[in-house]
Amino acid sequence: MFLKVSLATLLVVLGLSTATPVGAAPVTVTNGTQFKDTSGAVVHAHGGGMLKVGDYYYWFGENRNPDNTFRAVSVYRSSDLRAWEFRNNVLTQSSNPELKLANIERPKVVYNSSTGQFVMWMHKENGKDYNEARAAVATSSTVDGNYTWRGSFRPLGNMSRDITLFRDDDGTGYMVSAARNNADLNLYRLTGDYLGVANLVRTLWPGSSREAPALFKRGGKYFLLTSGATYWQPNQQKYATASTITGTWTSPTNVGNSTAYGSQTAHVVAVQGSQATSYLYLGDRWAGAWNRPVNESQYVWLPLTFPTATTMTMSWYPRVSIDTATGVVTGVQ
Ligand code: DGJ
Repeated sequence: MFLKVSLATLLVVLGLSTATPVGAAPVTVTNGTQFKDTSGAVVHAHGGGMLKVGDYYYWFGENRNPDNTFRAVSVYRSSDLRAWEFRNNVLTQSSNPELKLANIERPKVVYNSSTGQFVMWMHKENGKDYNEARAAVATSSTVDGNYTWRGSFRPLGNMSRDITLFRDDDGTGYMVSAARNNADLNLYRLTGDYLGVANLVRTLWPGSSREAPALFKRGGKYFLLTSGATYWQPNQQKYATASTITGTWTSPTNVGNSTAYGSQTAHVVAVQGSQATSYLYLGDRWAGAWNRPVNESQYVWLPLTFPTATTMTMSWYPRVSIDTATGVVTGVQ
C-alpha cells in the first residue's frame, strides 16, 4: 500500500529540514537611513566595526549622549546583516571612572586566539576637548559580554585619534591610528596579547592627513581605505595596497566619488559564503554635517569591486542586496 506523504514530511522523517537556513535568503539594506534593530529601536553602532563569531556578525559602535559625549559602546548581532538584534552595551559610562565623561570613537574588536580574549581598541578623549588623542583598550572573554577597561595611553608616546584594528592570517595584530594632529597615519604591530603596541611598523604617507582607516586583506593583498580629515564633512576616500603589511604601501588612490556618496569609512567587512567572498564598505553619514548629534547619523553600505588584484572601485547604489549564505553582495538601483 502506498502512503501519500508530502516532500516536507518525508524530509522531516529523514531528519532533514525544509526550514530556511540561517542567513540564507538575500536581504536588502537601504542606504542613507538610520537602521532599526529587531525591536524597532535605532541602531547606534556609529564609527563601528564588525567581526564574525560562529553564525553571527557582531557590529560594535558608538552610542552617544545628545551632547555627543560617550554613552556606550553598543553591540548588535545578525546572521544576515539586516536583522540586527541588540545584545549589550559592552562598555558604558560606569565601566570605569575614565569613562564617566569621555568621548569614545571608532571602537574595533578582534579575537586573540592565544589568550581567548576579545580585545577592543578605540579612540579616547576627555569629553571636553580633543587634545588627549589617546588609544584605549578593553577586553572580554565573550564577544558581547561586559568589557573590562584596560586603560588609555598614547601609543609609543604618539597622538592617536581615528583608529582601526587588523588581525592577519598568522594571528599577528596590527593597529592603525591618526597621529601628529591627524597629519600622519601610523601602522603599529601589536603585542602577542593585543593589549599593547610592540613597535611602529611605519608612518604611512607622512603629512597627508588621512584618517578613518579600514584595513582588510583580499587575495593575499592588503588594502587600506582612508578618508581625508574634514571633521564631520564627507570627503574623497582613497585606498592603498601592499603585498606585505610591513612592506611598502602604494600612494593613496581615489575610490568612489568626491564625498564617498556623503559618507566616511568606518570598516570593511568580508562576507564569505558558498559562492563568493564579497567586501562590503560600511560608511557613516555623520549627522554632524548638518549640525545634529552623532546618534542621528545614517549608514551607507556599498559593495566594493575589484577590477584587478590591486585596484578597487565603489559605486553608489540606493540599496544593497546581501546574501550571507552565498557571499554575494550587489548594488540595487
Ligand atoms: C572625523 C573622524 O573620522 C570622526 O571619527 C570624528 O572624530 C570626527 N572627525 C569629529 O569631528
